[in-house]
Amino acid sequence: MARADEGTVGVAQADQGSAVIPCLQPLSNLYFQATNPMTKNAPSTPRPIVIFDTTLRDGEQSPGASMNLAEKMELAHALVELGVDVIEAGFPIASPGDFEAVREIARNIHGSTICGLARCREADIRRAWEAVQYAERPRIHVFLATSAIHREHKLRMGKDEIIERAIAGVKQARGFCPDVEFSPEDASRTEADFLCRVVEAAIDAGATTVNIPDTVGYATPTHMGNVIQTLRNRVPNIDRAIISVHCHNDLGMAVANSLMAIEAGAGQVECTINGLGERAGNCSLEEVAMALRTRGDYYQAATRINTQRLVPTSRLVANITGIQVQRNKAIVGQNAFAHEAGIHQDGMLKERTTYEIMRPEDVGFSMSDLVLGKHSGRAALIDRAKAMGYNIVGEQIDTVFEQFKILADKKKAIYDADIAALIEQQIHTIAERWTLDSYKVICGTGQVPEVTLRLRHGDEKQTVSIAGGDGPIDAIFLAIEQVTGFTVICRDFHVHSVTVGKDAQGEVMVQVEHDGQVYRGRAVSTDSVEASAKAFLNAINRIVSVSSEEKGET
Ligand code: KIV
Ligand code: ZN
Repeated sequence: MARADEGTVGVAQADQGSAVIPCLQPLSNLYFQATNPMTKNAPSTPRPIVIFDTTLRDGEQSPGASMNLAEKMELAHALVELGVDVIEAGFPIASPGDFEAVREIARNIHGSTICGLARCREADIRRAWEAVQYAERPRIHVFLATSAIHREHKLRMGKDEIIERAIAGVKQARGFCPDVEFSPEDASRTEADFLCRVVEAAIDAGATTVNIPDTVGYATPTHMGNVIQTLRNRVPNIDRAIISVHCHNDLGMAVANSLMAIEAGAGQVECTINGLGERAGNCSLEEVAMALRTRGDYYQAATRINTQRLVPTSRLVANITGIQVQRNKAIVGQNAFAHEAGIHQDGMLKERTTYEIMRPEDVGFSMSDLVLGKHSGRAALIDRAKAMGYNIVGEQIDTVFEQFKILADKKKAIYDADIAALIEQQIHTIAERWTLDSYKVICGTGQVPEVTLRLRHGDEKQTVSIAGGDGPIDAIFLAIEQVTGFTVICRDFHVHSVTVGKDAQGEVMVQVEHDGQVYRGRAVSTDSVEASAKAFLNAINRIVSVSSEEKGET
């Protein structure tokens, strides 16, 4: 017979001997209580849930999602506005860039706890502290794998050694900082007894939060609920720490698993904007926040999230990373509140709650459509930008207003999404060493495209004419490579319309590879060939700025 501590919590095991797997209260009962008119509105104070955002750390590990320092700072500001309690800003020992980003966020971002990740190693923990020490409220997050599979194959350590390491790591971190989080990596696949031992030892050593990761997205909701309840029942000092949960989405259950963990008593949930993250991603912040808000009657728990900032923050992450959310994504997808079916529309017109459980404005979708036009002034633009949650100042206002006037000449109706695209283009700028002055393309069926392109580089203008490529965009990319001297591999290219109508602006996103590194480029224009040229140049300018940083020229 298998020993009791050889079964992972929540995984059905026929011969678990004396291992007691506690059961959650049957869901049907809870559902009944929550929906029963007699108990539904029973007054009770909702339990506060700490929102720990790891978009800048676990989210950034998603392929192609790496962000530069300016982008990380901007996102960190947005996360504070959104009301997240803890921002995991990075993994300081991972690279000098990661260290600098965590340090700058710790120095300049106020209003949230700033956390840095560290393995259970002396050098990692010291480096994490060096980066987060400047924060108003610093946190060190120490992790060490605990499952049998990780112990045997990755760490080659026995259980006692793991416990010793965890204690030493937490103690070292506590020597620096009063707020220390400990994560037993791959906790959901760790034997129940061993997980309880590690968690107890970490709390005794000073961990103030114990985070339970489902690192490989293996758990199911009942499994995750049982893990949390087991810890609550069997770890004697569990009341001295907040239990947290960190779920990956490999089986598409990260949000459900996190909610079940909350139901079982977790007080912190780790998540990312748009569910960004390695492989299938992490638990999505917007979904968890809106589930807790919309079903507050059921969960009796609440977050500090300013839900009206969800859509703007989602857009910001999509624009920075180039990873767009699917149209039907819950809460922030373009179709999340679109009712097409006639029967639904009819119901909505009579009473919106017939088919709507949340209002679009609650998550930050704008209620106004056509907002500004050719005759709108600067004050109206600034006002609209503020209402949309953007904080543009100084020269940015001048540039956005100038661009707005140019756009209003080309396009009658200016929608919120147009304004957002103009602003985002300004706030994500990098030094534009190369800019597009003009282009002309002659192309047609069965004809090799001919391009004449003029670029600006400082005060100089450089013109090239070539015939080549498979189409007008390919030809323009070849011409840009020729003038700038950078040859790249185009890894991704897509264009989509920012708003509706034939005169809508086209937004182009490109990903190019240069010297083994991937760079993104983005641009908008009512002319999608021009937007393609500008997006490609934007990517080239990113390569230039990285090479000059490396040469110490900036
Ligand atoms: O998924 C995971 O296990 C992690 C830990 C570092 C918390 O990201
Ligand atoms: Zn993770």
